[in-house]
Amino acid sequence: MCGIVGYTGGKQAAPVLLKGLYTLEYRGYDSAGLSLQTAGGIVTIKAKGRVEELEKRVNAAGRIESNCGIGHTRWATHGAPSDRNSHPHNSMDGSVSLVHNGIIENYLELKTELQAEGYVFKSDTDTEVVAHLFSKYYHGDGVAAMLDVARRLRGGYALAVVTADRPGELICTRRDNPLIVGLGEGENMIASDIPAIMAITRDFIVVGDGEVVRVTPESVEVYDKDGVRIEKEVQTVNWDIQGAMKGGYDHFMIKEIMEQPKAVRDSIASRISADGLPDLMSEGVGAELFADVRNIHIIACGSAYYAGLAGKVAFERLAKIPVMANVASEFRYSDPIVDSHDVCVVISQSGETADTVAALREAKARGATTVAIVNVLASTAAREADHVIYTWAGPEIAVATTKAYSAQLAVLYLLALTAAGARGTLTPDEIRYYCRELRDLPDKIEKTLAFGPELKRLAELYCACDDTYFIGRGIDYMAVQEGSLKLKEIAYVHSEAYAGGELKHGPISLIVDGTPVVALACDPELYEKQISNIKTVKARGGRVILITNGEYAIDPDLCDHLIKLPPCPWFMTASLSVVPMQFLAYYVGVLRGCDIDKPRNLAKSVTVE
Ligand code: AGP
Repeated sequence: MCGIVGYTGGKQAAPVLLKGLYTLEYRGYDSAGLSLQTAGGIVTIKAKGRVEELEKRVNAAGRIESNCGIGHTRWATHGAPSDRNSHPHNSMDGSVSLVHNGIIENYLELKTELQAEGYVFKSDTDTEVVAHLFSKYYHGDGVAAMLDVARRLRGGYALAVVTADRPGELICTRRDNPLIVGLGEGENMIASDIPAIMAITRDFIVVGDGEVVRVTPESVEVYDKDGVRIEKEVQTVNWDIQGAMKGGYDHFMIKEIMEQPKAVRDSIASRISADGLPDLMSEGVGAELFADVRNIHIIACGSAYYAGLAGKVAFERLAKIPVMANVASEFRYSDPIVDSHDVCVVISQSGETADTVAALREAKARGATTVAIVNVLASTAAREADHVIYTWAGPEIAVATTKAYSAQLAVLYLLALTAAGARGTLTPDEIRYYCRELRDLPDKIEKTLAFGPELKRLAELYCACDDTYFIGRGIDYMAVQEGSLKLKEIAYVHSEAYAGGELKHGPISLIVDGTPVVALACDPELYEKQISNIKTVKARGGRVILITNGEYAIDPDLCDHLIKLPPCPWFMTASLSVVPMQFLAYYVGVLRGCDIDKPRNLAKSVTVE
C-alpha cells in the first residue's frame, strides 16, 4: 500500500528510482511518480497506472541530469487515481517536493488553515497539505522543518522530501508506516521495504516512529522527535535479491507456492532441539509462557487470521487452553477482556498491517504478554512485541500470501506443541512424535505440489463458474476459509466457505446442478460427518472436488474429482490441503485473465485502517 523510494549518490537517480519502484509494485498501487533534483530546479513526472507508464514518460522527457530524487507508488485513499493526485506533491513555487505513505487524519483542518494563508491546492489528496506545510516551515533546515511538520500531523505516515536548494539531500520521517534507510558506499537510499534498496546495499537502519533523518551521499543523520541526534543499529538483509525475483516463473504467486516446502523447512529447522522437542528459547518463548496462561488471543487479518484459526484448533485440542481468534480490526475496538494473565499472539507477514499493529499495542497496553509471528525483518510488529518468532519464508512479493501463510502454520504448530508440553497435555514422547512429523511435513508439501497439473485441468473445467463453495469441518473448516479467500482475491470469483454442518441451515439452497464445491475431509474426528454433508451437496447436483488424506475407502458416487494428500497428523493437514486450493485459485485467475500478482484494489501491506 503506497511505496516510497529515494536515492542520493553518484548514479543517475531516475533509473535507480524506477528500479526501486518496480520492486515496490507488489505493495499495490494505482499511480506512480518521481521528483528529481536538477541544476535548474525540481523536475516532477507522474502517471496514473503502472510504473511502466511512468517510465515511458520519464524516457520521453529525455535525459534529466540528477543524482538525487524521490519516487512513489500511490494506492488511492483521498482522491481518485489520476495524474493530478499522484505523488510527489510540490510546494507552490516548486522548490519542495514530497511523497507520502499513510493517511493524514487532520488534513481538512490543516488545508483550511493553509488556504486562509493563501496556499493554493492542485489535488484532492491529504498529502498536498504536508507539502505546503513543509514549505511554510522550511527555512533552509529540512530536519527542523520536518520536526515542525510532524508536530502538526495526526494519523499515520512515512514522508520523504527533496528541496531545490539542498542538492543531494533527502529528508524523511515516519509514524506507523514503514521506512528504512539503505546504507551504501558514497550513496544511500530510503524506501518502504528492503527489496527497493538492494540495488545498492544489504545494510539498512529502520527509521523509528517520530524520528527524522537527513540523508546525503556520504552521511545519514538520525534525530529523535526532540531534534536530538541519535545512533541507530545497522541491520543486514539475510536473503538474496534473487528471492525477490520471478526466477523463470510466470508469476510470483506460483513461484511462492512452489517455495512452500523450503519456507516451512526454514521456519522449523532450528526450532526443534537435538532431543526432538520444540525449542523457541532463542525467541524467549518457553514453557513458562504457557504454564499459567488463562487465555490465548490470536489476532491477525486476512490469511494471517485464517492461519490463526488453524492455530486455535491446534492449541485447544493439543494444549487444552482456551483460544480466542480475533480479526485485528475488530479486536482493538471491542474493549477486549485481556490482561496480564493472557498471551496475545499476533500474526502478520508484513509486520506493518495497521490494524494488527494497533491491536498489538492495545493488547500490550492491557498488560498481556505479546508474541508476534512475523515474516519481515525488523518490521513494526516484530520490534514492538515482547517476543518475535520470525517465519523464515523469505521475501513474499505476490499480494496473495501463500508461503508466508504456510510458514505461519508451521510456527503455530511449534507454539501449540510448546504449550502442550508446558501444560502436560501431551507426553514428551507424543510431542517428539509430532516434531518428527513436522520435520517430514516439507517433503509432504513437496509431494502435494505434484497435484499442480491436475488442479490446472480442474481450473479449465470450472473457470467460467461465477460461484464456488468451500466446505470443511474442524481443522478443515479453518483451511477452507483460506482457500475461499484465495479464489476471491486472485480470480475475482465469488466464493464462500462454510462449516459442512452449516450448509443445511441456509446455504444449501444455493447449491444447484453444476455448482462447484471444494470439500475437505482431512480431519479424522469429523470425517464421517463431513462425508454426510458432502452427500447432501451431491444429491443437489453439486460438482464436488474432494480433498482428503486418510486411508478411507471413497464411495465413487461421493465426488466428481478426488485429490488424495499424503497422510499426516490431523492438525498438520491444513498445511497440505491449502496447496490444491492455492493452485485452483491461481489457475482459475490465469484463465480469467486476472492480474495475478497485483489483484485489483488490493495491497500487500495494508498500512491504513
Ligand atoms: C492474503 O492473501 C492477503 N492478501 C491478506 O489477506 C493478508 O493476509 C492480510 O492483509 C494480512 O497481511 P499481513 O500478514 O501482512 O498482516
